[in-house]
Amino acid sequence: MKIYLNDLNYKYEVFELIRSLIGKENIEFVDDYKSLDDILIIKIHEDLEVKYYLNKEIKYNKKITNTKILVDEYFKEKMLIKAEVLKFFKEEFNISSDWGVLTGIRPVKVAHSLINQFGIEGARKILRDKMLLKENKVNLITSISTIQDNYINRLKKNSYSLYINIPFCPTRCDYCSFSTLKIEKHKNLVPIYIETIIHELNSLKKYLSGYNLSTIYIGGGTPTTLNEDSLKYLLTYINENFENATEFTVEAGREDTLSYEKLRLLKEQKISRISLNPQTFKSDTLNLIGRKQNNEELIKRYYEAKELKFSSINMDLIIGLPRENLTDLENTLKIVKDLSPENLTIHTLAVKKGSKISERSLNLEDEKNNVLNMMDMVVDFASQNDFIPYYLYRQKQILGNMENIGFSKQGKECIYNITMMEEAENIIGIGMGASSKFIKGNNMILNHRNYMNMKDYLENIDNLLLKKIELLGEKYD
Ligand SMILES: C[S@@+](CC[C@H](N)C(=O)[O-])C[C@H]1O[C@@H](n2cnc3c(N)ncnc32)[C@H](O)[C@@H]1O
Ligand code: SF4
Repeated sequence: MKIYLNDLNYKYEVFELIRSLIGKENIEFVDDYKSLDDILIIKIHEDLEVKYYLNKEIKYNKKITNTKILVDEYFKEKMLIKAEVLKFFKEEFNISSDWGVLTGIRPVKVAHSLINQFGIEGARKILRDKMLLKENKVNLITSISTIQDNYINRLKKNSYSLYINIPFCPTRCDYCSFSTLKIEKHKNLVPIYIETIIHELNSLKKYLSGYNLSTIYIGGGTPTTLNEDSLKYLLTYINENFENATEFTVEAGREDTLSYEKLRLLKEQKISRISLNPQTFKSDTLNLIGRKQNNEELIKRYYEAKELKFSSINMDLIIGLPRENLTDLENTLKIVKDLSPENLTIHTLAVKKGSKISERSLNLEDEKNNVLNMMDMVVDFASQNDFIPYYLYRQKQILGNMENIGFSKQGKECIYNITMMEEAENIIGIGMGASSKFIKGNNMILNHRNYMNMKDYLENIDNLLLKKIELLGEKYD
């Protein structure tokens, strides 16, 4: 479809919305509307006009007069435009989005902000009537927001969490687009990498003395790809220098990186939460997505971890994986039910550039059509098995314009996932590609990211540190 938009200040927002409805491959922005064969015309002046022509015939024609009086601090002009574009797609093609005008990755943040301002009922009304979210999404994000408040309100002043990235994996899964290195090929880099992250931590330590440590999260990649000696060395340093975190997570996602001894080491090193990720228990799918996994071994490691009494074990699943149907998901969920982890994180497949799946140009139409029912199945499963949704985020290129949802048994919510996603505290990102967030009050957040590739990261570490120290010290009143 061709789209003419007279005010390019709104191009990003309009593009993001329409992309989520019909896919970016079906969108072409044009500079004029001489050809009226198949064109959506959006004109924004004092008024807003939305017109659609097909074969030179006008099919849709709507004018909203005096838009200024319809917008306010929360329902901005860009939202009004998106709402009108949404109404057009619904009326003309019966295409809609459960998320209404919200196209960003943090819809719960919008709910928090509206609830703070208008109370829960006021927020629900705005989300439903103005922002056009479906009732199920309104319920989901307002209930998540309420659960998160218990944790966000307990954060100390000037709090921060540490995120440490270990970008090594045994092999590369076909759906993954994260910047990771295969350990076999790059094991010579491990010692220098660990020394560099310790250097980062050591250099930042004194500048963090006026801040309060909340949680530590070691993610990746797969941190447990490191051998026991390296892990012990790193964790000992962290425990000696960054004490009393209320939660300490290590992603131990792949069973082929684990052993009972490694799990015991994590426990000895005060790790309170681990993530052990099946993605699916269907072996055919695991082969199809290039994820080496022995389900029996994974379950064995899980029970060993239970025996070691970690405070919380998370499992990641992905819905919409190639050739998976509802029965496959049901089978995976049956196993999850028996295992009964404290946390369950459901990702919807995102086909991202840089992943092997995107290069294989698989036809994923059926999977795309299935994910809605799959998410419904997960939500039913969760409510029948005492899993409460506690954090949520959306991503680009996600199948069916869906979302990722973290579920938790009551009281076992992962604090880091909440505060990081809701931008509720400072995040100090350490290691290659790690992002930091510096919360400066008045809704001012300064972002920083370390270099995404190893060479640049290692070579420029001192410049990166100087920048982070400067951002830590910067004051905004
Ligand atoms: C950063 S990955 C690291 C986890 C760990 N290396 C593992 O594979 O178990 C975190 C999670 O993101 C999810 N994920 C990664 N790529 C994805 C994609 N393209 N679409 C949906 N979920 C994805 C997977 O569930 C994965 O467990
Ligand atoms: S999904 Fe996990 S294990 Fe697989 S390549 Fe990505 S980070 Fe590594």
